Amino acid sequence: KLGLKVLGIETSCDDTGVAIVSCDRNILADALHNQAQIHLANGGILPPVAGYHHRANMEKVANEALSAAKLSMTDIDAVAATVKPGLSLSLEVGTKYGVFLSKRYQKPFIPIHHMEAHALTARLIDERVKFPFLVLLISGGHCLLALVQGVDSFLLLGKGLDNSPGEVLDKVHRRLKLRNIPELQNFSGGHAIEVMAEKATDRFEFPLQIRANSMVSCDFSFSGLLTNCFNIIATEEQKYGTSADGVIPSAPNLCAALQYAMTSHLCRRVEKAMIFVKGKQMIPSNNPSLVVSGGVAANKFIAKALNAVCDAHDYHLSVPPPHLCNDNGVMIAWNGVERLRENLGVLHWNNLDSVTIS
Ligand code: KG4
Ligand code: ZN
Repeated sequence: KLGLKVLGIETSCDDTGVAIVSCDRNILADALHNQAQIHLANGGILPPVAGYHHRANMEKVANEALSAAKLSMTDIDAVAATVKPGLSLSLEVGTKYGVFLSKRYQKPFIPIHHMEAHALTARLIDERVKFPFLVLLISGGHCLLALVQGVDSFLLLGKGLDNSPGEVLDKVHRRLKLRNIPELQNFSGGHAIEVMAEKATDRFEFPLQIRANSMVSCDFSFSGLLTNCFNIIATEEQKYGTSADGVIPSAPNLCAALQYAMTSHLCRRVEKAMIFVKGKQMIPSNNPSLVVSGGVAANKFIAKALNAVCDAHDYHLSVPPPHLCNDNGVMIAWNGVERLRENLGVLHWNNLDSVTIS
């Protein structure tokens, strides 16, 4: 049973990922094709373009994973694929390919929920993460806070009501023209803002614009931060102009203010959730875990602040390494392992007509 191997397929957005993970926590292969550079040229993800590149790479990435692990499909015990949520033109590629492999090699098929997979990844690399635990997912596409009670048992405590944190960082990054700064050229929006913020000399006046009604839950709102940044940038440009690369002189201070405001909002919501689950006795009192995942989890300033919140409330902070926080096949394969062990939603290869994407 320990040697059981699951092949996982991820194609919910713009990453074509195939990985093989065993029940004893070994990552036997991790193949990934990323479309980021292609979509950059289009100014964003066009779903038909994403679908086209998934189709063009699907089989190649799968074969890459199998040969990296020195395995053939006959050695695999089950196939798992992301079926929701995501772009349908992307999801259908991985789902169809997974169903095809499952039928052709007579292997069980396990449909995977992308968010469940993000939340469970930490358990692959950190044995201290036991059910129930809190999870904060922060990326370009998601923002949510949940209590994970079991493999398929989630209690949603808070969700993003508008822009996701990664989206805000990326939009401010573009508006600030930070890509024109040579040493930041190849950085993601969030990473460039993190580096700029370290050069701050002062903090901007930055009113926290969080809607009053969101105080009743652990929901998130970041649209006010975005408006705020755009307003400040316009004013600064008018008052002081920009340097030759088009960047305002106060960019580091603005980045620091944005990062601080975002961190503070995240920490408040996490703290509120900790107090709520403790009050309801939904989590053990002896050092439970907070898992932070998603692309924005790579931010050291945010991680440090969340670590302080964890210390204050006696939580263990678990942040998977960036390559496991982003979209990848490993998290899908691992979710498959977790489901296979408990026989949750494992489908027979003769019975896959009901598999739908959403
Ligand atoms: O999970 P992810 O790869 O994918 C999507 O959700 O699409 O997250 C990407 C996001 C981007 O918005 C990027 O700017 C952000 O993660 N990001 C960061 C950092 N590195 C990447 N945000 C803050 N600090 C970082 N160091
Ligand atoms: Zn994701």
